[in-house]
Amino acid sequence: MKTITAPQVQAMKQLEQKIAMVTAYDYPTAVLASRSGADIILVGDSLGMVVLGYEDTLKVTMADMIHHCKAVARGTKGPLKVGDMPFMSYQVSTEQAVENAGRFIQEGNMDAVKLEGAGYADRVRAIIESGIPVMGHLGLTPQSVKAFGGFKIQGKTLNAARKLLDDAVKLENAGVFSIVLEGIPAELAKMVTDAVHVPTIGIGAGAGCTGQVLVFHDLLAIPDPAPFQFVHTFEKAGSVMEKGLIDYVAAVRNGTFPEAGHSSHISEPVEKALGKEVVRKCM
Ligand code: KIV
Repeated sequence: MKTITAPQVQAMKQLEQKIAMVTAYDYPTAVLASRSGADIILVGDSLGMVVLGYEDTLKVTMADMIHHCKAVARGTKGPLKVGDMPFMSYQVSTEQAVENAGRFIQEGNMDAVKLEGAGYADRVRAIIESGIPVMGHLGLTPQSVKAFGGFKIQGKTLNAARKLLDDAVKLENAGVFSIVLEGIPAELAKMVTDAVHVPTIGIGAGAGCTGQVLVFHDLLAIPDPAPFQFVHTFEKAGSVMEKGLIDYVAAVRNGTFPEAGHSSHISEPVEKALGKEVVRKCM
């Protein structure tokens, strides 16, 4: 199966094709995401919240990301693999940004990287110059949660909306192949989508974007339905998994698991001979 490339994703806007992107964090989620036919798998730093149990994404490290990217790469067949650059992996210097982006390709086996905000357009340019495709990310960028004072919708005032439009153009000029728009009003996301040539991929940004992205665990309600307005639960996989686990624990306790068919068995003569030896040993 052929891997979708960043230029192919970029061309999807002109071809008027909707882009479906989903996150994955390990081998099984990557296998399932690949089988879904999604165009892009994002190893998001949402890893910190949905897999590692942190309350935000700020503690996620390069080591965490590389570890999970490697597993996702082993399970992905088809979709473009994008690695999310974690907090403080590109903010300190351009050199550090290029070096860390390179690690996503060389060690994590990703095809592209994503980083948040337009304030680092110089880093974006330098990473692209080194040969690595970059996906931008604007709006409710979770790595700025402390600056925003919480997970709050962005771009609601005239000035904030103007800045977001300018930032999108800035990222496009820096060379990104697509831009994630997160947590902004649908009208603004549509205007941004119309203002740039590259595809926009929305999450909590309405239907006017070129594509959509959701977090794997959110759309499948693992472990519980996500408490966010922008998420749709496509399947209650968390409750299916929970029921399976409860049934397993009950079966162990009441002795209905394992059954004979779940074990391997020795032949009758071997069993008899062994039985005699055991009896002798016990005498
Ligand atoms: O980390 C992530 O999963 C993301 C997506 C929600 C866009 O950045």
